[in-house]
Amino acid sequence: MTLYLIYTLKLHLFIPAMTTWPTQRQIITELTTFARHKLWPWTTDADQFEKELEYQQEKATRMPFSRHIVAVGDLHGDLPNARRVLRFSNVIDDSGDWSGEVDFLVQTGDIIDRGDDTILLFTLMENLRSQAAEVGGTVLSHLGNHEWMNATGDWRYVYPSELKTFGSIAARQRMITTGRIGRAWAQNYTTASRLPLHPSIGPPNTAYPPTSSALHFQKEDNLDFGIGYTDNKAMSHAALSFVHGGLSPSYPELTPFPSRINELSDSLLAKLQRRPQPPPHPPHPYPGLPQGTTVEEARLYNSNGPLWYRGWAMEDEETVCSQVDAVLQKTGTRRMIMGHTPDFHNIQSRCNGKVIIIDTGISHAYGGVLSALSIHYTLKPVGDADSQRWIEKEVVSALYSDRQEILASDEREVVGEFWHDES
Ligand SMILES: *[C@@H]1O[C@H](CO)[C@@H](O)[C@H](O)[C@H]1NC(C)=O
Ligand SMILES: *[C@@H]1O[C@H](CO)[C@@H](O)[C@H](O)[C@H]1NC(C)=O
Repeated sequence: MTLYLIYTLKLHLFIPAMTTWPTQRQIITELTTFARHKLWPWTTDADQFEKELEYQQEKATRMPFSRHIVAVGDLHGDLPNARRVLRFSNVIDDSGDWSGEVDFLVQTGDIIDRGDDTILLFTLMENLRSQAAEVGGTVLSHLGNHEWMNATGDWRYVYPSELKTFGSIAARQRMITTGRIGRAWAQNYTTASRLPLHPSIGPPNTAYPPTSSALHFQKEDNLDFGIGYTDNKAMSHAALSFVHGGLSPSYPELTPFPSRINELSDSLLAKLQRRPQPPPHPPHPYPGLPQGTTVEEARLYNSNGPLWYRGWAMEDEETVCSQVDAVLQKTGTRRMIMGHTPDFHNIQSRCNGKVIIIDTGISHAYGGVLSALSIHYTLKPVGDADSQRWIEKEVVSALYSDRQEILASDEREVVGEFWHDES
């Protein structure tokens, strides 16, 4: 700072002829502020505090908030059908680009196998991801059991014609491990996600239960500004979970959610991608998980893990509805959404939309029905300007090419300060 002062003084005292009047005035303002901060250091804090307060007050205004989420299940190598679904759910426009009409697109895995368009579909997803990011949208992508099967060298469901689109077995191996697709999996795909309905919970994949440092931060905020999250209990579970298969009630790695599952997912994928690629099964023997796979990593990939579990789709209503609340409670969510177990006619909603299964066999390999799930969330202020009352609403609908069906519509009043940045 002292250097800066000397430098500025030199430049502008000794070559005044070269500077114009507005610049000189700006320099004088800068210098006096600088001098003031040097002489009376507490004025620096005061200036900053004023700015911060203005910012907080602006944020705290009672603005209505809305968030629109679209989720799409198993796509299995069929680009034209994937495009149709994304078009009628308004995720993309007529030219196939991100429309900006939705805030989140979630895909629950199984893009690969049973069709020829693997490369094109993964490319489409990366294009949409970057287009979305430019306008504040987000694409959340998940690895399904078929992506994992491929990563383990289990090629039972690879179509010979799909193999041709890669050129050769070796080319497919390369692309899916160290190549473009494998890198996208490692960077931009997870096995589980937690998507907040309202930003006061945090960005996507904020872990539940909150870590102690987050709690600490919130407490300090309360002290500083006297406004807080004390009434926020109503919102603590205002989030959705997504995995490919399902979150089994007896899966031991549910919390913290989704970070525990995604840690195991990252480490297992890295081990699979780093090992020398085994020759594809069949005709070669099933290679299994790599040496050095931990017990927890192996559990991620077994039939009770989030990639393969089918209980939420297969068990009877009474069993499902008696088990669901415990899992929602643990994972900090209100609904769990998954693919993997197809129903060729409808998206399945169970226990008043607490469990939603969105695999409807979209790929022509199944000849199911084209579908997407839509969730409209709104939080609107009610009462007078000083009131802290809000109406919270979630409308969950199944979208088909020719019709829409409301699966759940929940409304409740919540009390508290709920901030969001205008964007
Ligand atoms: C897809 O299968 C091949 C053959 O085993 C394998 O080399 C590749 O690693 C798999 N994909 C990924 C992402 O690892
Ligand atoms: C992952 O997503 C980011 C953001 O869209 C993108 O820049 C990056 O290239 C993607 N990674 C891969 C390997 O595709």
